[in-house]
Amino acid sequence: METKRKKTGKPLVVRTVKAVRRAVQRARSEGKTVGLVPTMGALHRGHLSLIERSVAQTGFTVVSLFVNPTQFAPTEDLKRYPRPLKQDLALATQAGADLAFVPSVRVMYPEGFSTHVTVDELASGLCGRSRPTHFVGVATVVTKLFNIVGPDRAYVGQKDAQQACIIKRLAADLDMPVRVVVCPTVREPDGLALSSRNVYLTKTQRAQAPTLHRALLKAKAEIRRGERRAARLKDLMRRMVHTADEAGIDYVEIVDADRLQPVKRLKGGCLLALAVHFGKARLIDNEMVNVT
Ligand code: PAJ
Repeated sequence: METKRKKTGKPLVVRTVKAVRRAVQRARSEGKTVGLVPTMGALHRGHLSLIERSVAQTGFTVVSLFVNPTQFAPTEDLKRYPRPLKQDLALATQAGADLAFVPSVRVMYPEGFSTHVTVDELASGLCGRSRPTHFVGVATVVTKLFNIVGPDRAYVGQKDAQQACIIKRLAADLDMPVRVVVCPTVREPDGLALSSRNVYLTKTQRAQAPTLHRALLKAKAEIRRGERRAARLKDLMRRMVHTADEAGIDYVEIVDADRLQPVKRLKGGCLLALAVHFGKARLIDNEMVNVT
């Protein structure tokens, strides 16, 4: 099932695995390398930066738009997750995407589906603690997308640092010939990381949400001044986040950048990461530091 590429320059929209494979094969036969940008749609400038990077570095860019049910817990926002497909296709086009893969749940999870991908160590902490089934859903769908598209490169955001780590790990562990490229977090001018979930914020919550980034920057500044004790830095970030009265902390953590295990003293590559509830929205953010 393919929709013909229109004169408006819309990317080809395909909804089946077969149609993706056919389009990718055609691109490959023209000597093009293939980039994949997996998304759940509701595209914003963060997503677009990944698409643009893929367009710059590969000959054929596939964007997947799929709100993956298996990564949502029953209590989470699957039903009300925004799905502005028409707008997404227009934005993906402007960014230069060649193919949009928009599968149904049935295409991705036909009856009888029973295989799951678990990335043990990396998925247990941080977001894995409050969302214990989330990363199995992510790892499974990303594995499927890698198998369907067979990209040379896949583009993911640093905004979801744990997810990026897990995707890199699974690609390496399962011998997938794909290079996972992690792209920087795109932010609003006041520091709030762009997220499809920011639309859930009330005006007051939106005004308070930049405290996440401010807390991370404050901790970074202390690290520059020589602070190495994780407990002190976490305390500092917690206090900063608590200045926003609508904020409810899920976690404030400092982990090593490779294995995502909590550290007591900062050394080498470390990830400062936090997750904070603002009403209906759960926001995450992080900063990497390299400590000598
Ligand atoms: P989604 O939240 O739509 O994000 C798709 C990609 O965009 C992810 O790699 C994410 O890290 C990146 N991204 C989101 N906000 C960003 C920002 N502000 N700056 C830079 N990159 C940003 O993450 C998912 O979808 C899903 O879990 C998915 C990987 C598609 C699997 O279903």
